[in-house]
Amino acid sequence: KRLVVLVSGSGTNLQALLDAIATHGAEAYGAEIVAVGADRDGIEGLARAERAGIPTFVRRVKDYDSRDAWDEALAEAVSAHEPDLVISAGFMKIVGKEFLARFGGRFVNTHPALLPSFPGTHGVRDALAYGAKVAGCTVHFVDDGVDTGPIIAQGVVEVRDEDDESALHERIKEVERRLLVDVVGRLARNGYRIEGRKVVIQ
Ligand code: GRF
Repeated sequence: KRLVVLVSGSGTNLQALLDAIATHGAEAYGAEIVAVGADRDGIEGLARAERAGIPTFVRRVKDYDSRDAWDEALAEAVSAHEPDLVISAGFMKIVGKEFLARFGGRFVNTHPALLPSFPGTHGVRDALAYGAKVAGCTVHFVDDGVDTGPIIAQGVVEVRDEDDESALHERIKEVERRLLVDVVGRLARNGYRIEGRKVVIQ
């Protein structure tokens, strides 16, 4: 299967996918990364793709007249690589109607909280501020809400008394990278269906 991965930051989730594919081989893993896209330049996520010899593209919101125009341009750039699955791995933008019309049902996001608790940009900070004793990550399909789509898998991390946002986020990310690699491989190898809110991997 063909994957396009979208990033906005350090790209350690992308790296975990790259490493898994390098270790097992694309055939055994079930998928290859055909392109990496970003909404900004100069990030480590893009550098990781370039080091792996994978084509990259950048579509910045500020280069377009409207959010819809950006959304269409992003959808077009992703489409050009003919992906079976699109993976949002720390991609910090909400996509619009056109993107979802083209990739709905095959657009996967990873979020550093146990949804439906703590959606949005500051999931880890919000969980800590709330006083949650368990935290974690959620891999889910993207729908037209913010972190509201059907859940594919979740991983749990205990909150420690001494945790600050960055310490907790780092421990969540260790679990998150393993979960994402596992989920994407299973979706790609086995196929899946989405029945309402329930995701069944075949
Ligand atoms: C992940 O925790 C992701 O869920 C969140 O931002 C982090 C991205 O990390 N939205 P990286 O860029 O993959 O290292």
